[in-house]
Amino acid sequence: MEFTIDATSNKARACTIKTAHSTIQTPVFMPVGTQGTVKALDANDMLELGAKIILGNTYHLYLRPGSKIVKKFGGLHGFSKFPNSFLTDSGGFQAFSLSSNSKPDENGIMFKSHIDGSRHYFTPKSVLDTQYDLNSDIMMILDDLVALPNTQERIAKSIERTTKWAKEAIEYHMEQKANGIGVHQNIFAIIQGGTDKNFRKQSAEQLCALTDFDGFAIGGLSVGEPNADMYETVEWTTQFMPQDKPRYLMGVGTPEDLIENIERGVDMFDCVMPTRNARNGTLFTTFGRLNIKKADYKEDMTPIDEACDCYTCKNFSKAYLNHLYRAKEITYFRLGSIHNIHYYLSLMKEARTAILNDNWDEFKKDFYAKRSK
Ligand code: GUN
Ligand code: ZN
Repeated sequence: MEFTIDATSNKARACTIKTAHSTIQTPVFMPVGTQGTVKALDANDMLELGAKIILGNTYHLYLRPGSKIVKKFGGLHGFSKFPNSFLTDSGGFQAFSLSSNSKPDENGIMFKSHIDGSRHYFTPKSVLDTQYDLNSDIMMILDDLVALPNTQERIAKSIERTTKWAKEAIEYHMEQKANGIGVHQNIFAIIQGGTDKNFRKQSAEQLCALTDFDGFAIGGLSVGEPNADMYETVEWTTQFMPQDKPRYLMGVGTPEDLIENIERGVDMFDCVMPTRNARNGTLFTTFGRLNIKKADYKEDMTPIDEACDCYTCKNFSKAYLNHLYRAKEITYFRLGSIHNIHYYLSLMKEARTAILNDNWDEFKKDFYAKRSK
C-alpha cells in the first residue's frame, strides 16, 4: 500500500492510504461487515454512504460459507460486489469471544464453532491462507487475546505468543508474495499487553521491529477497562509505533472515543456500535444520542438530525421511523443503519478537515459543546 501523511495537528494525523481497491483518507472509521455485509445494508448502500473500506471476519467467513467459495467469486469484492477495500480480522478475537471453549497453545488456537460445535485449529499461517482466499486488502495476524483484568503471567504469555506468531506470519507472507500469492494484500501486526505500560512497550517494540509489516494495530482494548485507562494506554503505546505506517485501534468505539484517540495519533477504527445501536433504536446526532422508540417522537415531523444529509434524514421523519421501529419493520434497520454510519463517516471527514486546517482544538471543543446541549 501507499501511505502518506497529509497533515498533522499536534499528534492528530490526516493520512492517505492507497490499496489495490481504494484510496482511503484518514482518520477512517471502517463499518463492520462481519459476514461479508454490513448488517441490513448492501454494497450499493455502502457506496452511496461513501465507505472506502469495510471490515470482514476470517472466523465467520471461514466457518460459513468457507473461504474457497468466496475465492471462487474473486474474493470478498467479487462475492459481495463492494469494490472498495476490505480489512479482515484474523479470527483470534472471535474465537475468544464467541467460541464456547477456545484454547490457545504455543502454536495456535483450538476452538469450537459457534454454529455447529465442530472443532477447528487456527495457526498464524492458516489464518493468512484463509485471508488470501478472501483477498482482503489488509489482513490481520493471529494474536493471543486476554480478558482484562488478568494475571501478569497470562499477559506476559500473550505478548510472547503474539510476537512469535507475528514473526511466523510475516515470514510466511513474504514467502507467499515471492511465489505470487497475496501480492496486493497488506498485513498488520497487533500490539497486546493489557493496560500495563511495560507490557505495551515490550509488545510494541518487538512487533514494530518487524519492519515488513504494512501497519500496526493496538488490540486488547475496549474489553471492559475504564475509558481513561484505554486513552492512557493508547497515548502511551503510539509513541513506540512508527510515524510512517498506519495505526489502527481495534474495536473502538463511541464518537467520543474516536475523537479522543484521533487526538492521540490513531488513524483507523472499527466498531459494531453504529450498526448495532441503530438496530436497538439508538441514533447518533451532533447533539448526542436519541432513542427513536420514545413516545415523544410519535408525531414528530422532523428528521433525526436537521443538520444530517443522509438518505434517511433527507426523506423520513422521526414519527415514521418511530412507527417502523415499533412495528418491527425490517426497513427500520436499513434506515437507522444508514443514518448512524453516515454520522460516523461524516465525523471522520470533519475531523480530517480540522487536522488539515490545523484547528483541532476548536473542532474538539465544538464537538463536546454541541453534545452537552
Ligand atoms: N478486535 C478488537 N480487539 C481485537 C484484538 O485485540 N485482536 C483482534 N484480532 N481483533 C480485535
Ligand atoms: Zn441522517
